[in-house]
Amino acid sequence: MKLGVVILAAGQGSRMKSRLPKVLHPLAGKPLLQRVIDTAKTLNPHTIAVVYGHGGEQVRENINDSTLNWVEQQKQLGTGHAVQQAMGALSGVDRVLVLYGDVPLICADTLAEFIDTAERSALGLLTIFLSDPTGYGRIIRDCNNKITAIVEQKDATAEQLLREEINTGILIAERSNLDNWLSQLSADNAQGELYLTDIVALAVNDHVEVVASHPATEPEVQGVNDRSQLASLERVFQRQQADRLMLQGVSFADPERFDLRGDLTTGIDVSIDINVIIEGSVILGANVSIGANSVLRNVQIKNNVVIKENCVLEDAVIGDDCLIGPFARIRPGTELAGSAHIGNFVELKNAQIALGSKVNHLSYIGDSEIGSGVNIGAGTITCNYDGANKHKTRIGDNAFIGSNTALVAPINIGQGATIGAGSVIGKDAPDDMLTLSRGKQLTFKGWQRPVKTKK
Ligand code: UD1
Ligand code: CA
Repeated sequence: MKLGVVILAAGQGSRMKSRLPKVLHPLAGKPLLQRVIDTAKTLNPHTIAVVYGHGGEQVRENINDSTLNWVEQQKQLGTGHAVQQAMGALSGVDRVLVLYGDVPLICADTLAEFIDTAERSALGLLTIFLSDPTGYGRIIRDCNNKITAIVEQKDATAEQLLREEINTGILIAERSNLDNWLSQLSADNAQGELYLTDIVALAVNDHVEVVASHPATEPEVQGVNDRSQLASLERVFQRQQADRLMLQGVSFADPERFDLRGDLTTGIDVSIDINVIIEGSVILGANVSIGANSVLRNVQIKNNVVIKENCVLEDAVIGDDCLIGPFARIRPGTELAGSAHIGNFVELKNAQIALGSKVNHLSYIGDSEIGSGVNIGAGTITCNYDGANKHKTRIGDNAFIGSNTALVAPINIGQGATIGAGSVIGKDAPDDMLTLSRGKQLTFKGWQRPVKTKK
């Protein structure tokens, strides 16, 4: 069976009140439409056609996926019209699955089961029972409980409006049947649109079986029309992710105050305090704890690492047994070999630091290679930028850099070197010696403080 997927994404999304097309708004860091595309791809379809309209160029550029067939629907004349536009892009396909670009949480499992439940020739509808069905198309069944039609809210009779089974919009049909039914649609309805839902009555007329299956949960079929609905689905999705991680053995101080916008891999006994944000691809080893309000973006953290409160780490590798923060900022290119201590108000950028070195207070270490057992005193700055180019600082094993030192790169500090506090070091410092540069300290004997003259 060759499956074609049509994703409807031409709607304007005016209730978002945004310059960004609705389907590009992110949920957990990924555009709504991208989520639907990724889910569709798990079904190994022959073709995916995306029907776009409003903000089309922006959508195509942003999604930028050459495996997709983009179909423009210039005027939004209804869901039936949208699918009509897509059929030309689905040659060689046996069955067509229709998804919505603004229904982001539909699960791959639900769709796989849905496709299996409907016989190949049947028309399959994904439906759900809602205590408040207002606004949705209602599923109409006869006295034998067979589906006979879908009636839109605006076209329904008072009796039909009482039906609680609604059309989620997701359906699957045999391609040849769908072609035939689409050609028979008319806009003779309350909204003057071509309704895709009218194919149900046409199928019944053709004696094609119409079968319904249901999603596991309601949020799977909830659409995003405004920012409030987007925020609700974001919370649903975040809670699902936290629940999955807890089942894998991760502890959360509060699973409601956790945001994962990407992929998180964890070892055993990871614990995460409140308001932690994880973005991109993050790997946490065993026995790692992440302090409150920390942000981790594309980082790998090995075993037995403590990240204290309020740290921001990006594109970095943190080795075993490191202690970071509170209030540390670790920027791209940083690699800590292990057992490093990085304390408060320390910024590291493109710094490779060997085993057991410490930068405990108020420092900027950029473009640096630092050996093992190095102690960098409070207020040390690597002056890596001359206004035009960046330069390297190299510090040998067991060096000791006194507080408030400026290391003017390019520069090499030898192994076991000691730099006196308050120095500006512009020339290489040799191994095992004390180097310092500071004004001589003077004391003036007999000096007296001025006193106020009396008027
Ligand atoms: C549609 C269904 C309704 C169902 C509901 C579920 C029809 C006629 N009605 O109603 O039975 O309960 O979805 O949410 O199908 N779109 C296009 N081009 C168009 C029109 C719509 O691409 O010309 C896209 C929209 O961007 C959206 C989806 O199709 O993603 C649904 O369109 P929408 O206008 O929201 O349909 P509803 O009237 O809500
Ligand atoms: Ca809708």
